[in-house]
Amino acid sequence: MCGIVGVVGSKNAVSIILEGLKKLEYRGYDSAGIAVLEKNKFKTVKEEGKIAKLEAALKKTKLESDIGIGHTRWATHGRPSKQNAHPHASSNVCVVHNGIIENHQELKEKLAKSGAKFLSQTDTEVVPHLIEYHFEKTGDIKKSILETAKEIHGTFALAVIFKGHPNVIAVAKRGSPLVIGLGENENYIASDYYALSDHTSKIIALEDEEFAIISNNEIEVFDVKNKPIHKEAKLMEAENNRISKDGYDHFMLKEIYEQPRVLEETIQAYVDLSNSSIHLPNFAFDLKKINKITIIACGTSYYSGMCAKYLIEEIAGVEVEVDIASEFRYRAHPFRDDNLMVFVSQSGETADTLAALKFAKQNSQKILSIVNVAHSTMAQLSDAVIRTVAGPEIGVASTKAYTAQITVLSLLAIHFGCIKGKISAKQKEKLLQELAESGAKMVHLFDKSDIKNIKKIAQSLTSAKHVLYIGRGISQITAFEAALKFRELSYINAQGIAAGELKHGTIALIDKKMPVIVIAPHNKDNDLFEKTLSNAQEVNARGGKIIFISDKKGIAQFGKMAKRKIEIPKLDGIIQEAILPVVSTQLLAYYVALYKGNDVDQPRNLAKSVTVE
Ligand code: AGP
Repeated sequence: MCGIVGVVGSKNAVSIILEGLKKLEYRGYDSAGIAVLEKNKFKTVKEEGKIAKLEAALKKTKLESDIGIGHTRWATHGRPSKQNAHPHASSNVCVVHNGIIENHQELKEKLAKSGAKFLSQTDTEVVPHLIEYHFEKTGDIKKSILETAKEIHGTFALAVIFKGHPNVIAVAKRGSPLVIGLGENENYIASDYYALSDHTSKIIALEDEEFAIISNNEIEVFDVKNKPIHKEAKLMEAENNRISKDGYDHFMLKEIYEQPRVLEETIQAYVDLSNSSIHLPNFAFDLKKINKITIIACGTSYYSGMCAKYLIEEIAGVEVEVDIASEFRYRAHPFRDDNLMVFVSQSGETADTLAALKFAKQNSQKILSIVNVAHSTMAQLSDAVIRTVAGPEIGVASTKAYTAQITVLSLLAIHFGCIKGKISAKQKEKLLQELAESGAKMVHLFDKSDIKNIKKIAQSLTSAKHVLYIGRGISQITAFEAALKFRELSYINAQGIAAGELKHGTIALIDKKMPVIVIAPHNKDNDLFEKTLSNAQEVNARGGKIIFISDKKGIAQFGKMAKRKIEIPKLDGIIQEAILPVVSTQLLAYYVALYKGNDVDQPRNLAKSVTVE
């Protein structure tokens, strides 16, 4: 999952590309590079590390040209290094690529036989040599791109420049996102409109197996058969481009503190609390006929899907199955006509989830997507879309998108409950009230004394080797999500498990050094508190270092067994249990990462949008 940018026809090509790459850094930030065509020579500057290092190098090595391509990388093949950074070139062809060339080894051997020399360990480097190979045969840019695409197995968003063609960028798309931006006497390409939003609001989003030849004043789109395709340019909403930290030290901290407002805005977008009416976007299918829901997602979005299983089954009585996207399409899933496929994604571009969506579509399933990015590919491919109103989420570790997803999924559960006649108008009103009050309660989690307490506990965890999170019911999911946040931010191995499962093996890990974070709020809808309490006592009996997350009553009941406690407000039900305690665990992971000196917004080895399988 990388970010690519290209410009043709602009004298500020290099700075437009650099600014675009900065905006795409969420897609990968382990190395970067830019190449331009200067006096019919490729001039390239590449650096290992963040864009800032490339920017510094560009100050030393001036690139003067009105055509160029750039790349920010998340390594798939070949470790992050200057050599493996893109662009990659052959004698006359230079390429940037986002995706994976699955048959790169085979192509490399074939091309090496015809004299190609390879300098990097990347899969991508076969592409410029393959295009050159076909260009020598056809003498035609379009044909060489099409022949190359035919030979490549895998996914790609490609941008290509050619010696001898100072006013041409060729692009190709299969699986990875790619847009063309229309300018005045200059044109642009990028992985995401956001990278171009300072320069144009007119874009053409390419579909899979579409290709284009772009010059400063012409764009020619064609298909695999070299047939021209007419593409309408779309006018994009003016995006708030200046996304700042608003005075917070990190985007992640800002996004944690934004959650009460995000909840409010997401509820306002779909609910009229004055008459307890829910206004979800129209579905092109009859929800009454839906008797099963299959939720597919990855990472944190998968955990919001697991929360939805509890919420929808409890509130609407509709059967819910949840699966991780990278496994879903490789198992013999029996599709049903009365099934609704729900895909959850912050970015709307996650390759595993997209591939599962396309698989479900091929099996004529009804597709609902819950995404945070309006113009994302998932939104474009779905029958119905419900947007989370979280605003841009820049921190790689997802926080506000998670609670916004649970808010939307709660509304879907309540909506279904009404349609299925499972809940009365009174119950609906009460559930909407519970949801609406979550934001106000969440603000209390940011009280000074609570933050001071979390900072102290975080200090004590910086030297931990392992951490366990346990919970029951929907708090089990909070344990899973909390452990993921802890892993990706602190780089400490953390595991979330169902508290009831502890005694079936994992309890063997418990000793005086093992911190165990017990998530046990009271929830008057079930007696899981007591059950979790006995599991915590099993930990206590083996000397485990318990950190207890509960409400005032729970903490009093747990008493001296836990030296470190995190108090949360009293919860009114399952929706609040899914949305509130997780915020304290987000803060805990944030401060441990901060005290360890880790890069909180761009943790190592990660990227915000995972566009490769
Ligand atoms: C979460 O903190 C991670 N960044 C990651 O697990 C993420 O949730 C996952 O990659 C799914 O992304 P999506 O919601 O954009 O599809």
